[in-house]
Amino acid sequence: MTEEVLELLLHRDARVTEEALKQYYTEDDDLKILLDAERYSLFAGGKRIRPALTLEFCRMLGGEEEAALPFACAVEMIHTYSLIHDDLPCMDDDDLRRGKPTNHKVFGESTALLAGDALLTGAFEAAASNTVAGAETSAMAVAYLANCAGRYGMVGGQIMDLEGEKKELTLDELIKLHSLKTGALIGAAAVLGAMAAGVSLRDQCMKDVVTYAENIGLAFQIVDDILDRTGNAEELGKNVGVDAERQKNTFLTFFSVEEAQFYADRLTNEAITVIRKYPNSEALVAIAEWLAKRTK
Ligand code: IPE
Ligand code: IPE
Ligand code: MG
Ligand code: MG
Ligand code: MG
Repeated sequence: MTEEVLELLLHRDARVTEEALKQYYTEDDDLKILLDAERYSLFAGGKRIRPALTLEFCRMLGGEEEAALPFACAVEMIHTYSLIHDDLPCMDDDDLRRGKPTNHKVFGESTALLAGDALLTGAFEAAASNTVAGAETSAMAVAYLANCAGRYGMVGGQIMDLEGEKKELTLDELIKLHSLKTGALIGAAAVLGAMAAGVSLRDQCMKDVVTYAENIGLAFQIVDDILDRTGNAEELGKNVGVDAERQKNTFLTFFSVEEAQFYADRLTNEAITVIRKYPNSEALVAIAEWLAKRTK
């Protein structure tokens, strides 16, 4: 699949997801500030890579898009909440995200905190109410998503990241941190797409889905670390150079930019190897390649 075709596909997946996300909001004058704060970040122009994984895994495995969409929305809501909280002064204290002032810069810390809370809660409502996928699949998806987002997943990774600012981590600890804080939710995006296509956690095919997602998830955070050091702030839409300033443990604590990129490329190739054997895997192969060489 050429890069142009992939970009068209990602654009289409993002548009479909955004239309679906809008449907979770009904106007309420008394809650206006909360809804505005949530939507400010939710529709700020993220890459929508996680919902694309959900939709593309569902499609590759023969499922219906309508069954995957609520899961895609749920994952993007959790991702957006995690970014709003990640940027707060008590966390990374960033003032730019997705090319705009961060949520708390616009709405204040308490509203930003609550907007994150509402997105997190809303995600589980969306996933649990997936009537197209059915009650059994939804229950399975909710449990999986909660595990990946919570203490043994993304939140666990965030605490390792913050605690890591106070000490030096080993490479194994750093890999665990990255796998949890970024890999876990990317993994959930992929697995929920497969679940929407009727694949169960026990199927061999799900093991391949998880292997693909683990590899691209780790590669994704390695590239995030590289971009934080080398990226163009304007293109990235976030502050660049802050990891070093804060003495964060990143891949560049251990490796040069070239070595880190080599590692990301190797993980990408492993992801591609497990997924290439499936019919209609061209989009997922192209997504893995595209993520490894992304510039934003
Ligand atoms: C940024 O994620 C935070 C990480 C987990 C590295 P993305 O790079 O997917 O952010 P958006 O959604 O495109 O803004
Ligand atoms: C954020 O990691 C990962 C989350 C779970 C939100 P970073 O702190 O490295 O993400 P950026 O660099 O702010 O996007
Ligand atoms: Mg952070
Ligand atoms: Mg951050
Ligand atoms: Mg970063």
